[in-house]
Amino acid sequence: MPRSLEDAPTTVPVRLGERSYDIAVADGGWDALPAFLKPALERSWAGRGCLKALILTDDHVAKLPYPGLVARALGSLGIEATTSVVPHGEASKGLATAAGLYEELVATAADRHTLVVAVGGGVIGDLGGFVAATFARGLPLLMVPTTLLAQVDSSVGGKVGVNLPKVKNIVGSFHQPIAVWIDVASLNDLPDRELRCGLAEVVKYGVILDAAFFDSLEADAEAILGRRPESLRRIVARSCELKADVVSKDEREETGLRAVLNFGHTIGHAVEATAGYGGAFQHGEAVAVGMVAESRLAERLGWVGRDFTTRLTRLLDRFGLPTSIAGLDPGPLLESMARDKKNQGGRIRLVLPRRMGHVELTDAAETADLKNLLDDLCGPAPL
Ligand SMILES: NC(=O)c1ccc[n+]([C@@H]2O[C@H](COP(=O)([O-])OP(=O)(O)OC[C@H]3O[C@@H](n4cnc5c(N)ncnc54)[C@H](O)[C@@H]3O)[C@@H](O)[C@H]2O)c1
Ligand SMILES: [Zn+2]
Repeated sequence: MPRSLEDAPTTVPVRLGERSYDIAVADGGWDALPAFLKPALERSWAGRGCLKALILTDDHVAKLPYPGLVARALGSLGIEATTSVVPHGEASKGLATAAGLYEELVATAADRHTLVVAVGGGVIGDLGGFVAATFARGLPLLMVPTTLLAQVDSSVGGKVGVNLPKVKNIVGSFHQPIAVWIDVASLNDLPDRELRCGLAEVVKYGVILDAAFFDSLEADAEAILGRRPESLRRIVARSCELKADVVSKDEREETGLRAVLNFGHTIGHAVEATAGYGGAFQHGEAVAVGMVAESRLAERLGWVGRDFTTRLTRLLDRFGLPTSIAGLDPGPLLESMARDKKNQGGRIRLVLPRRMGHVELTDAAETADLKNLLDDLCGPAPL
């Protein structure tokens, strides 16, 4: 059945000079992928010389229709694809898996025109992107993110990389894709917990950059949780637009502007690192509690009123995200924050809200303020 015009993908441009590209946000509509991809390939150095592709996915996503839909779209452009499936999970995001993928590229006689397509969550995007960035000094990359987190965050911005056994995301590069294809219908298969983790980053965009977007999340919360396609398309497209705008002003994290994306992440990372092992806090959940804790700190500095934190907490609650760190040990949290890469001159730097839609990077909080805050927040919850 022909699809109506409303079903045409929404396009979000990412403006990065000669590395500019488009993000398509579709609801199904895979028939439109070849027409979207062809000009993107022709703008890239792969051009008409692209005859082969490596589709990378994980064993969960391999059971879903998306790798096959990508292969079909590539086939219609005369591109022959082989698919490589790695085990799901963070453990695949390492140098050993990357080395195996380099061998597969050699075995298929890949050259600089071979397209790498990452079909999956952030693990597959970061790993596939890293392989694309490094094999033969750079292959063209198409991102097809299938988790909400990957759609609104990891597939936008060009950061790719792998983990070392003891340090996450430490080996990597900036490598922009030639295009990103997002099908929000893929979110229907996503477990609730994974959807909620992506929603934490969506809420973050409202707080840091767009008060009206935050209002709309409050108004539309039920439809978002019910995975209504129009709502999902709207929040994914707006989140991509907001991140793309930041990235286009600070592509390589040089001016400090990209730091705004770290709201909730300083305390969040500390929570993830100290309490997250064993699955107590996934990344998005740690970011949710981190945003609430950092909002409390902004209250103590007189930057926002109590109503600000109450409003943020209420929305995160509605999205089923945790908002409290009561019961955690404050000591290791503070130690972990002291190691944050934003810190300068021995002072802990955080991104804190001034008002809805606006945050600032600051070192205004003394270590003693932070210690008091964490002692209070980690204590038993008030009755
Ligand atoms: N590069 C960046 O800028 C950036 C930003 C944020 C996060 N990240 C990275 O992203 C990774 C986390 O990404 P993630 O949360 O997507 O994790 P993930 O890739 O592990 O995916 C989560 C789970 O969902 C499954 N899955 C994927 N799509 C699905 C679908 N449509 N239906 C059902 N299940 C599906 C996966 O198989 C996996 O089991 C981390 O490694 C993190 O470091 C990178
Ligand atoms: Zn995050």
